[in-house]
Amino acid sequence: MKMESTNSLLTMIDDDHMSIKSSFDSMINSFLQVSNHSIVMERSDIEKTFDNFIIIIGNHFVNEEFIMNKYYYEDQVLHRESHRGYLIHLKSLRDKIYAGATVESIVQALSDFFVSWDHFHVSHADKRLCKFIKSLDIDDFWNHSSD
Ligand SMILES: [Fe+2]
Ligand SMILES: [Fe+2]
Repeated sequence: MKMESTNSLLTMIDDDHMSIKSSFDSMINSFLQVSNHSIVMERSDIEKTFDNFIIIIGNHFVNEEFIMNKYYYEDQVLHRESHRGYLIHLKSLRDKIYAGATVESIVQALSDFFVSWDHFHVSHADKRLCKFIKSLDIDDFWNHSSD
């Protein structure tokens, strides 16, 4: 069984956020290059890139929800609803992409999505969750239980 500690949980959340940001940046960069005609991307590649981003962020939500559930986080219902709202938003954007929306409109909608997720969710809801994880002192729990 993998050892779980306050630090490992906080690191996992941080790492997830960083990998979401970097895959978001590389997705936006390639879409911008398509719209500048610097690269050619098949429509199916645009769809695949976007689907992959939804999987990455969806997996992160599952990770946070697992922690919230395991440690009885009291704000978990609201936090989950916020995750669900972002996924619904991304899925409606995916429908637009599949329906043939322009790359320019996708980039604009994605930028709006990212600002909202980063400024409102990561900086507030996730920050509160990390504060809660810090208060758990799971390292101490493990140290004491091995005495
Ligand atoms: Fe979250
Ligand atoms: Fe998060």
